[in-house]
Amino acid sequence: MTLLPGLFFAVISGLIGLSASTELRRADYTATCQEIATAVSSASKVYYNGSPQYTEDNEHWASSSSQTSACSFEPANAQDVGIALQLLAKDQTPFAVKSGGHSANPGFSSTPGVQIALFSFSEVVYDSNAQTATIGIGLIWDDVYSKLEQYGVTVVGAKTTGVGIGGIVLGGGYSYLSNQYGLSVDNVVAFELVMPNGTVANITNSSNPDLFYGLRGGFNNFGIVTTVTMKTYAQSQVWGGLITYTADQWDAVNTAIANYVSTVTDPKACLYSTTDYASGVTVILTILFYDAPTYPDGIFDELLAIPHSVEDISTRAYLDLIQTLPANASSGLRAMFHWVPIEQFTSSMLQMVKNQTLFYGEQLSQSSGVLISYDLVPLLPSIYSHSDTPAAFPSLRDSGQGYSFIEVYYGWTDPNDDEVMLQVGAESAAYMKQFAVDAGQDVANALLYPNCAPPGTALTDMYGDAASTLHSIRSAVDPGNVMGLTGGWRF
Ligand SMILES: Cc1cc2nc3c(=O)[nH]c(=O)nc-3n(C[C@H](O)[C@H](O)[C@H](O)COP(=O)(O)OP(=O)(O)OC[C@H]3O[C@@H](n4cnc5c(N)ncnc54)[C@H](O)[C@@H]3O)c2cc1C
Ligand SMILES: *[C@@H]1O[C@H](CO)[C@@H](O)[C@H](O)[C@H]1NC(C)=O
Ligand SMILES: *[C@@H]1O[C@H](CO)[C@@H](O)[C@H](O)[C@H]1NC(C)=O
Ligand SMILES: *[C@@H]1O[C@H](CO)[C@@H](O)[C@H](O)[C@H]1NC(C)=O
Ligand SMILES: *[C@@H]1O[C@H](CO)[C@@H](O)[C@H](O)[C@H]1NC(C)=O
Ligand SMILES: *[C@@H]1O[C@H](CO)[C@@H](O)[C@H](O)[C@H]1NC(C)=O
Repeated sequence: MTLLPGLFFAVISGLIGLSASTELRRADYTATCQEIATAVSSASKVYYNGSPQYTEDNEHWASSSSQTSACSFEPANAQDVGIALQLLAKDQTPFAVKSGGHSANPGFSSTPGVQIALFSFSEVVYDSNAQTATIGIGLIWDDVYSKLEQYGVTVVGAKTTGVGIGGIVLGGGYSYLSNQYGLSVDNVVAFELVMPNGTVANITNSSNPDLFYGLRGGFNNFGIVTTVTMKTYAQSQVWGGLITYTADQWDAVNTAIANYVSTVTDPKACLYSTTDYASGVTVILTILFYDAPTYPDGIFDELLAIPHSVEDISTRAYLDLIQTLPANASSGLRAMFHWVPIEQFTSSMLQMVKNQTLFYGEQLSQSSGVLISYDLVPLLPSIYSHSDTPAAFPSLRDSGQGYSFIEVYYGWTDPNDDEVMLQVGAESAAYMKQFAVDAGQDVANALLYPNCAPPGTALTDMYGDAASTLHSIRSAVDPGNVMGLTGGWRF
């Protein structure tokens, strides 16, 4: 069965002469590349296959998210982004917009057409009066935390090394600081946006409430963002880091996590526990976080007392803690994510997740599954209540209910296994959600995090009733559907 799609395509192409028209289209894409190179300022660059910049521009954390583009474009300023959008629209050439390239969904930030890479938007400007930072969208969070350290401040961004600014500030953004300050989208003050017609505007809550609402969760539906201005917070040294356990301590760790979530309500504390199954061996990698140089007695004692293999815990800079989880080590695999909302991690739920890890770890290792990971992210139910300004995601502010969650991550090598991995991930996520519902947890209608939802997820499963409002906002700013030439969630 696995050979059939290719064969099918070859037959169909031959029958209707698709290969000739595909070739024509390829040539068209290169023509657009040349038009862009001619029209933009000399600071902006177009690169072709063979150059190191082209390789970097097309690279993604997951290999299944990369494609061979006709060329890559690195705009140096917003005006040149606008010129490129107008030419892409004129030629109807597909394109992709990439910030940190961590989307695991194929085609969300990759294309056979023009790959736009935003690396040149790389400034961080701190405004100590306004207590905001204006951040270039082509950076990764590591760079931003590092640059803000000298001022003793930080922003609410990703909790893992290597992740881009773009997908986080346009998609949600769960951080170690979310219990205190909400999601990344809650902390955005302004976006510099290149609209689909090429016009550049600074979008704020007062200048354009519709777009400000849509951009916070709505990704690339409204144009291309070049900088984001975010609230900053005083940041001292933090306490914590990585502690790892072998599988023989699994039950003890589950008991300690259940005790932690049922007693700790201090918003400065955070816990992130990933369980990774690889070739029959399970390792538990847990990050302990406290937003101060020392943690109050008691909170993490039980977890620290369990025999462990690695302990990289100290009082340290925020960035230093972020970099203790070795997330770069799993880059380069094919990948999928899924997401299960949870009200509370009870002992029985943690045991259920253990069974899922072992059950699917063993099953998927028989195909090309390399890394089967079930990650626990306990959060306070108040995380969605840090902003009075509605956002596209999460759009359930009125109910005031925030969720903890389980992240499912599968990494594998064989493209022929893509379909089965997605299918099994969905089956496991559905099983876990049903388990929570059966245990009386109110998660049946909880919306999925669009940054961890797999390809094909219905818009209403992520945006609920807001999907139609978001469609209207998109139609107003993009009547010609220019952004329909790129991949991602389409309103
Ligand atoms: C190792 C790893 C760790 C992660 N850790 C976290 C975490 O701690 N917290 C969390 O919330 N999520 C996390 N995620 C999920 C993460 O939120 C998504 O992968 C996110 O989309 C990554 O953003 P990016 O800019 O790197 O990705 P990209 O693939 O570059 O972009 C993602 C989407 O946003 C669009 N986009 C990006 N920039 C722009 C722009 N300037 N204008 C318009 N559209 C744009 C792209 O077109 C694409 O559709 C993690 C993922 C991985 C793989
Ligand atoms: C956009 O507006 C915000 C808030 O007024 C401001 O801090 C930021 O500098 C502006 N950005 C640009 C690119 O003009
Ligand atoms: C992870 O990779 C990025 C480049 O994509 C790099 O900037 C970052 O420093 C790496 N993180 C660690 C901890 O090595
Ligand atoms: C373990 O998980 C599998 C797959 O969801 C399920 O079929 C099985 O019943 C579970 N086993 C236990 C003991 O819960
Ligand atoms: C955004 O505007 C609305 C309506 O004018 C207002 O209620 C809200 O407080 C504003 N939010 C921010 C963050 O300024
Ligand atoms: C581009 O679109 C925006 C939003 O619809 C509009 O305000 C602006 O006038 C348009 N620009 C041009 C040059 O038509």
